[in-house]
Amino acid sequence: MKLAAIIPAAGSGERLGHALPKALVQVGQHCILYHAVAGAISHVDQVIVAAPSGSEHIFEHSIKEFVPAVKVVTGGEIRSASVASALKHIDKEITHVLVHDAARAFTPASVYLEVIHALSQGKDAVIPALPMVDTIKRVKDQLVLSTEERAALVRVQTPQGFKRDLLERAHEKSSSDPNADDAFLVEQLGERVHVVMGHEDAFKITVPNDLVLANLVVNRGRS
Ligand code: CTP
Ligand code: MG
Repeated sequence: MKLAAIIPAAGSGERLGHALPKALVQVGQHCILYHAVAGAISHVDQVIVAAPSGSEHIFEHSIKEFVPAVKVVTGGEIRSASVASALKHIDKEITHVLVHDAARAFTPASVYLEVIHALSQGKDAVIPALPMVDTIKRVKDQLVLSTEERAALVRVQTPQGFKRDLLERAHEKSSSDPNADDAFLVEQLGERVHVVMGHEDAFKITVPNDLVLANLVVNRGRS
């Protein structure tokens, strides 16, 4: 098994509301992208980062100690377009691909190991997930339609791992849904997606409060 990690980092981070693109926002001594690359690099043979168009050089500079082992390429308008763009730059010998949000910068090794182990056991699509903690209700026009069965729902994280040819096939039919993850594209092909254990530290830095948590994790050290 030869592994590549694609790190989509081309989002602007609108919900974080920072002047910089989210991946360049500092947490402790380094930016979010640096932390994400540092967490991924020891688990894979190749790393490709998708950066916002026009920011490729700044992104490269922010992780310069990892370049040229890490390639920075131009991302797209939505996340799946960024992943599709990075997929084109994967080395010939790569057999499996992990797709990992830059915004999940503090994902512990255990999550990588769970996903990689499942791939090595012959699973073609693997996602890490955690149980729901809140009660989930379906609503319309500020009225509750129904209460979902919480035990049947999970919170999905990354890295999501795939056999290379399956991920490539999934991205041939790209989705216009900006929230679609890579597993969704695989589900669309009718393929099975396996679930392994995620970790609370694999949270996605999304809103300003998440930066408070990120700083706590940096000071405490990675799990
Ligand atoms: N991403 C990407 N290309 C895009 C949009 C998102 O590579 N066109 C990446 C982000 O950089 C992030 C990951 O996908 O690492 C998950 O997306 P999200 O957390 O939604 O980040 P943003 O899209 O940057 O944030 P927001 O939706 O608040 O603008
Ligand atoms: Mg987004």
